[in-house]
Amino acid sequence: MTARSSLTVVLAAGEGTRMRSALPKVLHPVAGQSLLSHVLHAAPNGAGNSLAVVVGPDHAAVADEARQQRPDASTFIQRERLGTAHALLAAREAIARGADDLLVAFGDTPLISAETFERLRAPLKNGATLAVLGFRAADPTGYGRLMVEDGKLTEIVEQADASAEQRKITLCNAGVMAFCGRKALSILDKIGNANNKGEYYLTDAVTIVRREGLEAVVIETSEDEVRGINTKAQLAEAESVMQAKLRKAALEAGVTLIAPETVYLAADTKFGSDVTIEPFVVIGPGVTIEDGAVIHSFSHIVQAVIGKKASVGPYARLRPGTSLGEGARIGNFVETKAATLEAGVKVNHLSYVGDAHVGANSNLGAGTITCNYDGFSKHKTLIGNGAFIGTNSSLVAPVKIGAGAYIGSGSVITKDVPDDALAVERNQQTNREGGAKRYREMKTQTKAARAKES
Ligand code: UD1
Ligand code: MG
Repeated sequence: MTARSSLTVVLAAGEGTRMRSALPKVLHPVAGQSLLSHVLHAAPNGAGNSLAVVVGPDHAAVADEARQQRPDASTFIQRERLGTAHALLAAREAIARGADDLLVAFGDTPLISAETFERLRAPLKNGATLAVLGFRAADPTGYGRLMVEDGKLTEIVEQADASAEQRKITLCNAGVMAFCGRKALSILDKIGNANNKGEYYLTDAVTIVRREGLEAVVIETSEDEVRGINTKAQLAEAESVMQAKLRKAALEAGVTLIAPETVYLAADTKFGSDVTIEPFVVIGPGVTIEDGAVIHSFSHIVQAVIGKKASVGPYARLRPGTSLGEGARIGNFVETKAATLEAGVKVNHLSYVGDAHVGANSNLGAGTITCNYDGFSKHKTLIGNGAFIGTNSSLVAPVKIGAGAYIGSGSVITKDVPDDALAVERNQQTNREGGAKRYREMKTQTKAARAKES
């Protein structure tokens, strides 16, 4: 049997006025990613699956985000906001291509999972024309109510049109639906706007399907998964649900979280094995933490790669573009940005390392600052392997500190410092032979050789 093709249309043309924000609603973040991005990544992806996003007329930023998150997405503009069915028909051109399954989702429902999309598609395989995602609402106010008879969905009644009796029903429309793709357009074109709000309701599709003697069904899910975001309070609730999910997944994958409820993760955080995260750590988007690394308390990390067995914090700030090699150590009150620190580098206290490349096994003493900004532009600091930077040194970029160079405490370095050939050789030997003991021996020998030279 060949797999069924699909088109997912994500409706995101709403104003989101209740967020009271200049930022379009679906661009607000949860776990470091926009609401829209969560939905786009849950939607079916890969061969045979296509994606369309319907945006408002002045929301170019939403269309950009859609294309960035899913380069396969096509975008459509709904020029007037006349209801959910009208919004879906903005993507008429994509729907007319006739995928087997047409899925509809809302851009402001970020907790929806890929499995739920698949569960919703299953009834279509068995001949249903429409499957609607439903949930039992603790407080159903505002939602469309699902009318079910003999296990089949007969009608969805919107809050504004519901009788007092119907409003007591707690089984609600989550907003996610799956249509038989070939029949979808003829159904959607029959939807009118004769209701209390004068809008084209997507929910009227159920009545039309039934009228034509076809089958509509409900697939149920939990309320948590289909929380729609309309206000900042709901955004915060969704964040908390998402964080709970991410922490659980991290623990299940073998990450040690000493106080999980105090650790904030991003939806795209990647962990190796045997990673430990101490209490009160914030991880933003784009972070990879490799095997055996330890993140100590009160560290803040965004867009960074933390190498195997590296150690970060307490109180470290790793900003975008940081890359730590194996066994590198970043201590308290150290900030890094656009900096590659190779294996074994130590920056243990009170330093700023920005726009820099630091070679393997170099040691940056307390208070080392890369002065990367001259008031006009940013410049790079390059430090070779095995260099030693004494405490309280300012490296005024652009500047290159040679491999094995030894910078005395309190230096202000404005000119390039050459390699220390002897140290380079010893460093290479150390790298070849490896091992901390051998490294200590080399250091002692280097010191002795220096003493002899001077
Ligand atoms: C909708 C459903 C309701 C369901 C609820 C779940 C309809 C008629 N009602 O109601 O049954 O319980 O969602 O949260 O479908 N949108 C557009 N263009 C429009 C109108 C809406 O793009 O012209 C988008 C919005 O951006 C949003 C989604 O469609 O992503 C839902 O619109 P919204 O106004 O929030 O619908 P609800 O009244 O919540
Ligand atoms: Mg809504």
